[in-house]
Amino acid sequence: MILSILKFPNNRLRTKATAVKSVNNTIKTLVKDMFETMYTSDGIGLAATQVNQHLQVIVMDVPDSSEDYKLILENRKTKNSESLTRKHPLCFINPTITRKAENKIHTEGCLSVPGYYAEIERFNHITVEALDENGKLFTLEAHNFLAVCIQHELDHLKGVLFVDYLSKFKQRRLKEKYRKISSV
Ligand code: NI
Repeated sequence: MILSILKFPNNRLRTKATAVKSVNNTIKTLVKDMFETMYTSDGIGLAATQVNQHLQVIVMDVPDSSEDYKLILENRKTKNSESLTRKHPLCFINPTITRKAENKIHTEGCLSVPGYYAEIERFNHITVEALDENGKLFTLEAHNFLAVCIQHELDHLKGVLFVDYLSKFKQRRLKEKYRKISSV
């Protein structure tokens, strides 16, 4: 089932997600629906917060190369071509970052802030611990874009958006712009 995605500046995006107590069938269905929603929207990551489910659940499928990422973004805009086949579905339940190193600036976007991209500084190398969609604990070491994506999605679970790292002035302008869009 395709779920509807909350859009900035909706206040429900500010809700803090609670930990999943057990990876039961309800959670498994949520994970399945979140993957479907993410792929349909040509996204590379989606947090449960964005679909108004305030549980610590993230799905992700980050492309191998920046060329593949460009194709996904292009498809998001035009919807003319077939979606790129994805290879790395990842699910993180109750994720925590246990190690972080190196700062780097990457360009980020978000399905909750459609059409907006900004340069954000994050850790470029992290270790994350989480449960997978079967409730099994795993540890993942991530670099570059995958590391960025994990930090971006983890922020969603805390009610934080990538635009919160922008200057107050830019945030205000963006809020006005998106308020107008959502009221049309
Ligand atoms: Ni996002």
